[in-house]
Amino acid sequence: MKRTKIGELLADERRGVQMKVAGWVRTRRDSKGGFSFVEINDGSCLANLQVIAPAALPNYEAEILKLHPGASVAVEGTLEASLGGGQAVEVKAQKVKVLGFSPPVEYPLGKQKINFDRLRELPHLRARTNSFGAVARVRNTLAQGVHQFFHDRGFLYVHTPIITSSDCEGAGEMFQVTTLDPEAPPRSKDGRVDYTQDFFGRRASLTVSGQLEGEAYACALGDIYTFGPTFRAENSNTRRHLSEFWMIEPEMAFADLNEDAELAEDFLRHLFKVVLEQCGEDLRFFDQRIQPGLLARLERLAEAPFGRVTYTEAVQSLEASGQTFEFAPFWGMDMQSEHERYLAEEVFKGPVVVTDYPEAIKAFYMRRNADGKTVAAMDVLLPEVGEIIGGSQREERLEVLEAAMRKGGMNLEEYGPYLDLRRYGSVPHAGFGLGFERLVQFCTGMRNIRDVIPYPRAPRMC
Ligand code: 4AD
Ligand code: MG
Repeated sequence: MKRTKIGELLADERRGVQMKVAGWVRTRRDSKGGFSFVEINDGSCLANLQVIAPAALPNYEAEILKLHPGASVAVEGTLEASLGGGQAVEVKAQKVKVLGFSPPVEYPLGKQKINFDRLRELPHLRARTNSFGAVARVRNTLAQGVHQFFHDRGFLYVHTPIITSSDCEGAGEMFQVTTLDPEAPPRSKDGRVDYTQDFFGRRASLTVSGQLEGEAYACALGDIYTFGPTFRAENSNTRRHLSEFWMIEPEMAFADLNEDAELAEDFLRHLFKVVLEQCGEDLRFFDQRIQPGLLARLERLAEAPFGRVTYTEAVQSLEASGQTFEFAPFWGMDMQSEHERYLAEEVFKGPVVVTDYPEAIKAFYMRRNADGKTVAAMDVLLPEVGEIIGGSQREERLEVLEAAMRKGGMNLEEYGPYLDLRRYGSVPHAGFGLGFERLVQFCTGMRNIRDVIPYPRAPRMC
């Protein structure tokens, strides 16, 4: 018989039909009436399935009475209305096959409470808990929602490389990729490591962003997006930074900053709606156990327009707020998380798009504004997480871009292909990057970003 997933079974309105289910035991209780209740979970939904195992089963004493949390079983039986409270249906077992036992003393996810810090040391098991199962399902739904959103709008999904030889953000926070012997690398006459002898014949790294390649495809195909892993060797031990995270980067030809901001707004609202529509059970769990008020907030934000403010106005409102910040705000500063959150949580009480940042604190590729001080940049800020999106209109004027790169001390020769896009049929274009884990964090209310990716990579954590 083919196995039915518990999520599907619980929605089945038939009674008395034969079913086969399989999963991991969460609890077992033995009743004096000659049967045991075995709660199993198979990850298809948050809820467990209650299985009634009668003492008359041939392996009742030898096996069923030895079932402990973590053991795996396959059950055949009938779907029945449940007499007990707490669940509408249960499966009355005719056969319980033990697939794998679980020694009670060793299983770390037994009955005792276990906190998220400890679970981070058990990434291979934590998906079996309610919280991490729910995170995985929400993450999946959001990923599908990303593709659906862009597909419906005619954006092409482009796979940009993970290994690269250019630093997109120009911040030098890259992990090196090499096959040279770290103990004895070949050296050139001046004593420096000779990367011409390395695997790629030059220095290579893991990408911090697919944007530069994304721009090339947008400047041929119109609207594109990337969705892939990105890497930052930034020594940030915060609850919103990872060394390996997933980023979604749309790029649109023939678009300006305003259209970029509109796309970002539509995109986020779409994702809030998708998760509300498809993950009700999991969101209710997060609302009850992790962050009270989460559901109501998502519902509100799925409909509300975002605030809009320029960087200059935002700094003025921070300065005038009378609030004591750890870092006192001033024009020209890189906004800290505390400033971002204050703007989203207190000033706008919801998402806000901040535009036109000082040139000096933003990447070389952003389009220079006419004021000579700011660039056509935007960040989207959310309550709790702060910056979730960073984007800009790109500098499409060759001379202006070259001048900016020289000013930043960059080697123009390494960016030949990027400059070619401005040399041959340059067009206005714009895009942004959304940090996927920050989105999952926001939608689940999970406090630490390390708890919304299956295997978190962070300083000293691999
Ligand atoms: O603002 P960032 O650095 O922008 C870019 O990389 C551009 N190339 C995007 C573009 O215009 N195509 O990063 C974009 C987003 C941030 O807003 C944040 O949500 C997320 O990526 N992010 C991180 N998420 C987790 N851990 C980190 N260390 C992150 N760094 C950035
Ligand atoms: Mg940014």
